[in-house]
Amino acid sequence: MKRRVTKAIFPVAGLGTRFLPATKSIPKEIMTLVDRPLIQYAIDEARAAGIKEFIFVTSRGKGALEDYFDHAPILESALRKKGKKDLLECLKATNMDSGAIAYIRQHRALGLGHAVWCARRLIANEPFAVILPDDVIAAEKPCLQQMVEAYRETGGCMVAAMEVPPEAASSYGVLDVKEDMGSMVRVNSMVEKPAPGEAPSNLAVIGRYILSPNVLQNLNRLKSGAGGEIQLTDAIADEIKSGRDVYGYRFRGQRFDCGSKAGFLQATVAFGLAHAELRDEFGEYLREMVSIPHAAQ
Ligand code: UTP
Repeated sequence: MKRRVTKAIFPVAGLGTRFLPATKSIPKEIMTLVDRPLIQYAIDEARAAGIKEFIFVTSRGKGALEDYFDHAPILESALRKKGKKDLLECLKATNMDSGAIAYIRQHRALGLGHAVWCARRLIANEPFAVILPDDVIAAEKPCLQQMVEAYRETGGCMVAAMEVPPEAASSYGVLDVKEDMGSMVRVNSMVEKPAPGEAPSNLAVIGRYILSPNVLQNLNRLKSGAGGEIQLTDAIADEIKSGRDVYGYRFRGQRFDCGSKAGFLQATVAFGLAHAELRDEFGEYLREMVSIPHAAQ
């Protein structure tokens, strides 16, 4: 099996209920972290990892997401006339090559596993990445790039893993660790959203995966799991039952859960403070806010 990963699936068909009413008309992935939509962070990370084909699993109401990747000739020519070179460059960096993007519909939100399965015909028989755009990862070397490099050595399946406090484990897929090799662990089994107190470890799976095409076959057979949804975790765990290797990769970086309001706000603060244009003014504002704790109330 080849170990070059050139295709990535971006499952963006979820309902985004935690951001209602905003997500009534705006896809969650279009929501803006400082000055870029969440999906742009995911695309940039995929490109850095060598991804050439970008497969979006979308659903009703996600038109704005598809439009975002269209070129914008009128806007570009207006910026050109005004001599706004920086903005023009910034816009051009979002352009995608013709034929590099595919959109597949998930007709019902039956779960992440089902969303990935919807893209099966575009993957065929090669390893592929899955990126959940609502997990934003700030890292010196982009997370998927770290994983692609590690995967060249291991093959199999690889999931991004992160230590979480025990009380948070029931919100994640959790790894049962067979062998701890430091930056990587070999996995014994995986449990999606374990009941409180029943998590096999504090190592949780977050939204970056490199998967063998076998996982798509496992998904063919899967019935719904935790929460009544078809779970990607269960299809990956089936690989272990078939005697194949699954690894958890402890990435270097900080992950923000931009699928939740608190996580999105934390990311906004962190990325705002890291932004060259905003750093000073925003940093000053935050310092004032902290010294007057109730100013915003
Ligand atoms: P979430 O669990 O965050 O669900 O999905 P959600 O619908 O996006 O948001 P909430 O919980 O209602 O607020 C994790 C990822 O899986 C995708 C989502 O789009 C998100 O990227 N997903 C989930 C699908 O594509 N299809 C599904 O059926 C479920």
